[in-house]
Amino acid sequence: MNENNNRAQFTTRLGVIATTVGSAVGLGNIWRFPYEAGTHGGGAFLFTYLCFIFLFGIPILCAEFMIGRQTRSNIFGAFRKLRSSGQWHWVGYIGIGASLMILSFYSVVAGWTLEYLYQSITGALNFSSAEEFHKQFSTFSTGNWRPLMWTIIFLLLNFVIVIRGVQKGIERMSNIMMPCLFIILIIFCINSLMMPGAVDGLKFLFTPDFSKINSSVMIGAMGQAFFSLSLGLGTMLTYGSYFSNRTRIVRSATTTALLDTSVAILAGVIIFPAVFTFGVSPAQGPTLVFEILPNIFSQLPGSIFWSSLFFFLLFIASLSSTISMSEVSIAFFSEEKKMSRKKATWLNTGIALVFGSICALSFGSLSGMTIFGHTIFSLFDYVSSNILLPAGGMFIAFFAGWLLDRNIIKSQLTNDGDVKVHVMKIIIFSLKYIAPIGILLVFLSLINLI
Ligand code: PFF
Repeated sequence: MNENNNRAQFTTRLGVIATTVGSAVGLGNIWRFPYEAGTHGGGAFLFTYLCFIFLFGIPILCAEFMIGRQTRSNIFGAFRKLRSSGQWHWVGYIGIGASLMILSFYSVVAGWTLEYLYQSITGALNFSSAEEFHKQFSTFSTGNWRPLMWTIIFLLLNFVIVIRGVQKGIERMSNIMMPCLFIILIIFCINSLMMPGAVDGLKFLFTPDFSKINSSVMIGAMGQAFFSLSLGLGTMLTYGSYFSNRTRIVRSATTTALLDTSVAILAGVIIFPAVFTFGVSPAQGPTLVFEILPNIFSQLPGSIFWSSLFFFLLFIASLSSTISMSEVSIAFFSEEKKMSRKKATWLNTGIALVFGSICALSFGSLSGMTIFGHTIFSLFDYVSSNILLPAGGMFIAFFAGWLLDRNIIKSQLTNDGDVKVHVMKIIIFSLKYIAPIGILLVFLSLINLI
């Protein structure tokens, strides 16, 4: 195995899991999963999503970890070290494009979280009907200035943390916050299960109607799997480069995926019973969670406490995700383009400020600015999650399955023979055939070629 003692390494197993889960768990689980599941038929979406997590997600996560640990570098350096010829640096460009697009629209939603944190603390989220919560969110989101202001504040917070290199502090904080988030989600789950719409909500989420699985459900579920696992853009590859030689790659990938998926399912179990209880449509899109959750909280005893705590934890979860995605382009600008880290961080933030502002206004004065029927916000969301990440993942899988020396794979997955990996053949089979061909087929089904 490759040893590079100059590079920082995660020291404990808990450190590895907390950091990878910190990147994976975020708005993708709590905001994006319920809205995607809601617009794509509930159970059919969940079923397809789970298939993608197991068939492609975990194997590609292993591939990113092993390529990262083998090369001890960012995605560009990794492909250069393993294959100096060819066009593999394009996979890095896909990752950078995706990371900047995601950072832009993600910061808008993180900004919504800050607005709702503020409103929770000031006790302003105190309505009694679903219509009022709907009106509240739409007045806020179409109002231009506040969404814009919060997006900028969030990006500046992200900037300050990344430029000071105090990620460690946030990581340590998220080590404590993530278990808290998990516990509070379980409490809200129990609350939702006692609602009158619980049975309908659970049926919606857990009963797959297979006739609803079409190309749009498949592309949505595939995009959600990649987005949620922070996969396909080099984030997990970079984290793999910090793994120690004793870190068990397959076990870390599986634990990360299982924890991440449980958070998404918990979010679904909180949201859908409430959706059916309040009599609102599950298919309303990105605004769903911000209308439902405050309504749930307002009915709890001590609502100010619960909603402030929840939005605070969600904000920290978002921050630990944006820190990890910022690292992709910052590593490119600083390590590949030889900029100072400071300049690189400015550039990353500058780009996100421009596009994030456009995304923030996509619900207000720029709502009429559409491309292929998408606002800029939804275009960025769609293109990055559903196209760029799976495309990046497809190339990474192909690379690991067909071009990476088999001895490297074996030594990475088994830690030079120290651990037994019973699923090695399955992982290699997935990287060689299932993942690249599967992703390609989903893409083809989208353009109606099959
Ligand atoms: N996985 C994060 C979430 O579910 O919120 C989003 C994300 C983080 C995507 C980091 C990509 C990334 F590099």
